[in-house]
Amino acid sequence: MHTQKMKKQKMRIDIIAVIPEILEGPLNQSIVHRARDKGIVEIEVHNLRDHTDDNYRSVDDYAYGGGAGMVLKPAPLYRAITHLTGQRNYDEIIYVTPDGERFDQSLANQLSLKENLMILCGHYKGIDQRIRDHLVTREISIGDYVLSGGELAAAVITDAVVRLIPGVLGDESSALSDSFQDHLLAPPVYTRPEVFNGWKVPQVLLSGNQKEIELWRLEQAMEKTRRLRPDLWEKIEEESPPPKEKNDAQ
Ligand code: ADE
Repeated sequence: MHTQKMKKQKMRIDIIAVIPEILEGPLNQSIVHRARDKGIVEIEVHNLRDHTDDNYRSVDDYAYGGGAGMVLKPAPLYRAITHLTGQRNYDEIIYVTPDGERFDQSLANQLSLKENLMILCGHYKGIDQRIRDHLVTREISIGDYVLSGGELAAAVITDAVVRLIPGVLGDESSALSDSFQDHLLAPPVYTRPEVFNGWKVPQVLLSGNQKEIELWRLEQAMEKTRRLRPDLWEKIEEESPPPKEKNDAQ
């Protein structure tokens, strides 16, 4: 039985964006929406243009040294960030950028334990390097491709993190059986009917033998990981090498 009392965790995520509208859909649907409704996570999206001081509300400028593409100016970002840091302490000030560390389930797990996160979304060629050098504490990429702006990356990170906060998913074990949670891809899943279009559900899943079902799921997950993600499989083998033979010195 689960008797240990869990500390009620509440997280706050502030996102600074050039196009806040992009975040409206992802943050107001499904699990993230429910987590916000339950008061488990508070998410505020801030428009970078609200921190400009010119009539055009301009956030970008030409790059020193020339070259194609604009750069987000330091002043509006500085004002937006310090406005927020003046209100609370942030565990991380994250800049989402294709040249950051790669986001994965392990990083999502780490971030889900934090209390206050800030996420800065870049645009165009990126943000002035001085903001990265002096204010940003972590730089994260969601993959080796370039998006038009950081908003979609911020939405991906927020979604992956929020669903891991205890109490967000109805069934606590649900996040634990996700792909990657144990470094393996998830096994196949089936629902009713037993036969669809002549295609059958694997017999073992109908057997009621929980031990055999768990074994089948593990085998499937291992086979799938080996076949589709040899890179992940190699990591698993490195982390848990087969037990060593006892030698004479022991
Ligand atoms: N901004 C643009 N592309 C991105 C990526 N791949 N990851 C994070 N932020 C980005």
